[in-house]
Amino acid sequence: MQIIRRSADMTHWSRKVFTSGSSIALVPTMGYFHEGHLSLMRHAEKLADQVVVSLFVNSLQFGPQEDLGRYPRNFERDCRMAANEDVDVLFTPADEDMYGPDFNSRVLVDGLTNTLCGKQRPGHFEGVTTVVAKLFNIVKPRFAVFGQKDFQQLSVIRKMVRDLNWDIEIVGHPIVREHDGLAMSSRNTYLSEKERTDALCLYRGIEHARARFAAGLNDTEQLKDEVRDIILANPGVSIDYISVVDKDTLADKEIMDTNSVLALAVRVGRTRLIDNCYLGNAPDAENEKDDKRCNGTC
Ligand code: PAJ
Repeated sequence: MQIIRRSADMTHWSRKVFTSGSSIALVPTMGYFHEGHLSLMRHAEKLADQVVVSLFVNSLQFGPQEDLGRYPRNFERDCRMAANEDVDVLFTPADEDMYGPDFNSRVLVDGLTNTLCGKQRPGHFEGVTTVVAKLFNIVKPRFAVFGQKDFQQLSVIRKMVRDLNWDIEIVGHPIVREHDGLAMSSRNTYLSEKERTDALCLYRGIEHARARFAAGLNDTEQLKDEVRDIILANPGVSIDYISVVDKDTLADKEIMDTNSVLALAVRVGRTRLIDNCYLGNAPDAENEKDDKRCNGTC
């Protein structure tokens, strides 16, 4: 695995790959890898001749009160983990390379970003779409793989690619979970032992929602009340939102159907966690009907 640090070198490498007729799959990340990230890398290997993983903690997508300063980092460990997969290039640009002092541009996807996490994290998605747009231009991938864990992010990036006519296939990958159901996240490392146990309420809410929907419940308010009770049974937990939305438009649904997604954002102590589930069949799950539990290798 090659480590490329400068965007100019990355572009040079990509251009060579492109002219040789080979394809590139890109996996954008902010590092501190876990099995969720690794499963995206493995998926990318199946799609293209070359796999590029970007590792860049993107300051632009963090609000002033958010956790940029303490976001977990371990470059040596990340290198080892990526090198154990079939990753060809780990692209890890410096802040000054991506955002020089004269950097003045932003990519904004309107509409889909005004709901769910976008309401509570102003500027967050603009930061995400701006960095992803830069990565697309630098790496020139034919495919880019994103996790359904960040369900709204995936929808926003799909919309950006459609709106801006990028010839890139956006591939969604199912959520990878710990053995007990907690969705893997770099931020899980913030949780104390007690908070780690409390955090399971998200998955309990999701399992409950799936079971109630499968049993015929279609009243969103009723479902949200039940999920709220499950989550608030833990005193250290507060709710940012519980929403049931259409999987494509992200519009709120009053009556649930097979296109509905339950999306949760919850604070466990100081840590904000998100999770979601399709109430119908997941669109990108290929051979898997649902998200995956990790038993060591996913
Ligand atoms: P990061 O949080 O590092 O996540 C990188 C990718 O891994 C995202 O596509 C995310 O959805 C996916 N991912 C995270 N946890 C996952 C899990 N448990 N199962 C499956 N996939 C999972 O998302 C970002 O970084 C940034 O916003 C980024 C897109 C890199 C732009 O800066």
